[in-house]
Amino acid sequence: MKRNKITIVGAGYVGATCAHWAATKELGDIVLVDVIEGVAMGKSFDLMESSPVEGFAFHIIGTTNYEHTQDSNVVIICAGLPRKPGMSRDDLLAKNTQIVKSVTEQIAKYSPNSYMIVVSNPVDAMTYVTWKVSGFPTNRIMGMAGILDAARFRTFVAKELDVSVEDVQALVLGGHGDTMVPLARYCTVAGIPISYFLSTERIQAIINNTRKRGGQIVDLLKTGSAFYAPSASAVQMAESIIKDKKRILSCSAYLNGEYGVKGYFIGVPVKIGGSGVEKVIEINLTAEEQEQFNKSVKAVKDLVSRITL
Ligand code: 2OP
Repeated sequence: MKRNKITIVGAGYVGATCAHWAATKELGDIVLVDVIEGVAMGKSFDLMESSPVEGFAFHIIGTTNYEHTQDSNVVIICAGLPRKPGMSRDDLLAKNTQIVKSVTEQIAKYSPNSYMIVVSNPVDAMTYVTWKVSGFPTNRIMGMAGILDAARFRTFVAKELDVSVEDVQALVLGGHGDTMVPLARYCTVAGIPISYFLSTERIQAIINNTRKRGGQIVDLLKTGSAFYAPSASAVQMAESIIKDKKRILSCSAYLNGEYGVKGYFIGVPVKIGGSGVEKVIEINLTAEEQEQFNKSVKAVKDLVSRITL
């Protein structure tokens, strides 16, 4: 039986940390790619040499050459510029479109049967670019955002209530930007709605914090954006594909009429398994939630309309 092969494009903080999580979870052999000579190779040597200590038995290589990515099962695209303080994710559109386009062309050439997980920002638009450029079926293209945004929400709720993060579930829909829609109504602590524990004001504060957290981290780091939680979230998607776990995760997925949207990638709950996005789960929204979702969809559509391929 052949081992799984995971390619991670971009050996910056997000890509290298994806490789770290994927290695410790023993998801398969890992190819780390970066255009900058030496970076991917140096990090792959270092990560590989942690394997005797950590006890994972897969190969990790770093390269600038896409030939080494041949026949990957899953590809995580982290290539592109991160935000700097004062920038929104949308400010990266033009530059990252060109980067993601050229990465996608290489991946489509060497791994035409792969599943692609896009992390580069603005993620919903970059996922669209990957789809258009690759020509892959929509079930094999998805963007990482909702898991990260929900993880932030879950962390804040758990901290506020002094309970385990493991018992807090949350759902964040829409585009991964300032208009994201954290759905407090679908946030529970061991199945109990958070409205049982928290006032409307506290819930609203948590929603605001969830929307702002990515930017707060950029302001603190000054030279880049968050990477531990984004990479853990991307690897959770990869794991669900590789192990056919059929997890229900919020991801940027192609909508074909669901939620009244057609032809765009937007954050919604989906079933992720061995066939990639196996199902889009359409939940009922209140009029207010639907209005927020529509606003977020509009923001993604505006971005996509500015893409030139
Ligand atoms: C974030 O929210 C990088 O967009 C990512 O931190």
